Amino acid sequence: VHGVPPSLSAKVVGSFAYLTVRDRMPTILTRVIDTIHRNKNKFFEEYGEEGIQAEKQTISLLSKMRNELLTDKPLLELTDSLQDTESWNQYLQRQQKQQGDQDSVSWFKSPWLYVECYMYRRVQEALWLNPPISDYDVFNEGKTQSFFESQQAMMTLCTYVEGLNKNMEGLSKNQLLEHFNKLLQVSLWGNKCDLSISAGQDNSQKTSPIDSLDSLQPFILVNDSNRVWSALISPQRPGQSKETALVRVDIVLDNSGFELFTDLVLADFLVSSRLAHEIHFHGKSFPWFVSDVTANDFQWTIRQTTAANHKWMSKSGVQWMSHLKDGAWSYHDHPFWTQPHEFCDMEADAPDLYATLQGADLVLFKGDLNYRKLTGDREWDHTASFHTALRGFGPAPLCSLRTLKANVQVGLQPGQGERLGSQDPEWMTSGKYAVVQFDNAKSE
Ligand code: F6P
Ligand code: MG
Repeated sequence: VHGVPPSLSAKVVGSFAYLTVRDRMPTILTRVIDTIHRNKNKFFEEYGEEGIQAEKQTISLLSKMRNELLTDKPLLELTDSLQDTESWNQYLQRQQKQQGDQDSVSWFKSPWLYVECYMYRRVQEALWLNPPISDYDVFNEGKTQSFFESQQAMMTLCTYVEGLNKNMEGLSKNQLLEHFNKLLQVSLWGNKCDLSISAGQDNSQKTSPIDSLDSLQPFILVNDSNRVWSALISPQRPGQSKETALVRVDIVLDNSGFELFTDLVLADFLVSSRLAHEIHFHGKSFPWFVSDVTANDFQWTIRQTTAANHKWMSKSGVQWMSHLKDGAWSYHDHPFWTQPHEFCDMEADAPDLYATLQGADLVLFKGDLNYRKLTGDREWDHTASFHTALRGFGPAPLCSLRTLKANVQVGLQPGQGERLGSQDPEWMTSGKYAVVQFDNAKSE
């Protein structure tokens, strides 16, 4: 039996983890500080002198953290008292025990996944310690902007959907499959548009999401979409028979903006084609990795879409709204999604969430961070199987839709990784490549 490989870490000088901790994370923090400062007047208008005090305090806490990061200080316990504070502090204590030395659990010496999650939780701590502005979403401006900058691409997509819906009843199974594959790929490539990899800079969709699919095809390194399709058309949940099958698909969301839009389009298609009767969306309970979807972003995006100045786009929005009203769609969040755990720990650490996911026939995990958590963000050989890297995680048949933005990739053919590496040294981190990677724990 092979051991579990070590976690990616900024310890490895020059690695992507190292560059992220050294460059991208401080840049993100600087932007956060700047955003809070720019909104000083708004806080004053809303909360008077208290708002100004809160702004100052928050900035001072954040600058202090930035400094800790830049000088590789030990990670500190959280000092707020929220639902998840205890579990974060226990996690830190466990790390310290494992390392046997308090100081070695520091920004550059700890697992990258943990450190990066921790930074976003500390941003939240700084806000929460300053009640007047504790609900302020420091990433809201960027998310809103990236939504508007992708408008053209969204309209194109909605026009496609309109054409599809008009003919839905007359589609053969093969045609349905073809549309499914297209919308799955649109949602896959939607993951390019995240604001963490760009350290907060504009990263919106500028080209037609449908027209570019053919040329993007060669960049999908693993494509298990046929297995995803099978999971939909012959669900295997206990107690399901083929005739009465009510298929539930869970989508573990990643980023707001264009990516969320593509997820909603896919979810709408699944429901209107009756491939699924119910979609559960899972989002984050506080702002996370710059562009991740919160409840607020989710509602806002749907409302904006209903109000779009484009016939088919607003029609889509109205349709989505009605899915929410009639219960075909629902939005959920859980503290586990904003913790640093690998997903193989979910069953033990968040049994309620694990049980919830077991009610799905298919779980789609969007994006890079989810992939890192699925595989534990570890130095796996590229030829290790996805199933092995999941280390027993499998509440339901699952699929990762991910563009590559971190140094972890499993399930490749022998030699494939080496070949890619020699053609394009940045293949794992540029977001240029993608995978549609499926696993069904039960069938393996
Ligand atoms: O900051 C790096 C990172 O964690 C990368 O792994 C990835 O580029 C990004 O943040 C998050 O990506 P995604 O939004 O696809 O989860
Ligand atoms: Mg993200």
